[in-house]
Amino acid sequence: MSGLPFRLRALPLTARLGFTFVVGTLGVGLAASAAHLVGHHENRDEIPGLSMEDLTGAYHGVKVTAPLVVALERGHPDDLADADRDTLMAWLTGERVSEDYDSLDLGDAAPAEVLDAACLSCHSRQATAGDGIGQTVPLDYWDDVAKVAFSREVSPTDPKVLVASAHTHALTMGALTALVALLGLATRFARRAAPALVMVAGAALFCDLCCWFLARDAAWLVGAIAAAGTLWMGSMALLGVLVLMELWLPAEAD
Ligand code: HEC
Repeated sequence: MSGLPFRLRALPLTARLGFTFVVGTLGVGLAASAAHLVGHHENRDEIPGLSMEDLTGAYHGVKVTAPLVVALERGHPDDLADADRDTLMAWLTGERVSEDYDSLDLGDAAPAEVLDAACLSCHSRQATAGDGIGQTVPLDYWDDVAKVAFSREVSPTDPKVLVASAHTHALTMGALTALVALLGLATRFARRAAPALVMVAGAALFCDLCCWFLARDAAWLVGAIAAAGTLWMGSMALLGVLVLMELWLPAEAD
């Protein structure tokens, strides 16, 4: 017999019921931590939804250039006079973005006036030109403009917080993975499927935790954090399924 020398199926009905609820509880826990992850990280870049940018912000830090600056730098819109482009760029890269938006002192050179003359034909909610861009990226009011006018820097999680988080996560997730692995190895799947999943879960967990630290210096490792985290979750969930199958499928014939 490979794996552990006993099978969960051989346990009394009461114990099998108990383990079923334990596996259910762990399933709820996994789902809750996935939801917590999304909620915890999604708003780092102030754009709803969990994106790679949110994760990169958390583990490595990112610099997000204001969409207005990006658009102006790539020469959008093509017919904007150079003087107006320079006015807008000087305003956006300066320190007084909100103060100078519709500063009376600047007269016609106030950014609000330039935007009004050069952009609102398309970027107004009422605009008929511009393929509806006025609905998705309106520039009518300061509240609209403010959403796309600021460049932001998202700093990675403070190292002290990271260490505090790692010390609980490494120990509890390590222990949890070991427990689920042992349960998986006490099933009829202990020959192939369970050991493979145990290998994936263990390796993914280790890689994930190491990358928390390494990604501070190498942004591409944030991708490894996401991939390893997904692999860990997936392999743990599959081990849980194997355990449930072992508990309730008819006993295997020896
Ligand atoms: C002729 C219509 C038109 C004019 C005028 C125009 N835009 Fe646009 N703009 C568009 C369209 C269409 C898009 C979406 C396609 C694209 O990104 O090129 C867009 C995209 C943008 C985006 C990118 C939004 C994003 O996805 O992040 C910004 C920012 C922007 N415009 C700013 C401006 C500013 C500032 C002005 C005035 C200086 C301006 N636009 C003038 C039509 C226009």
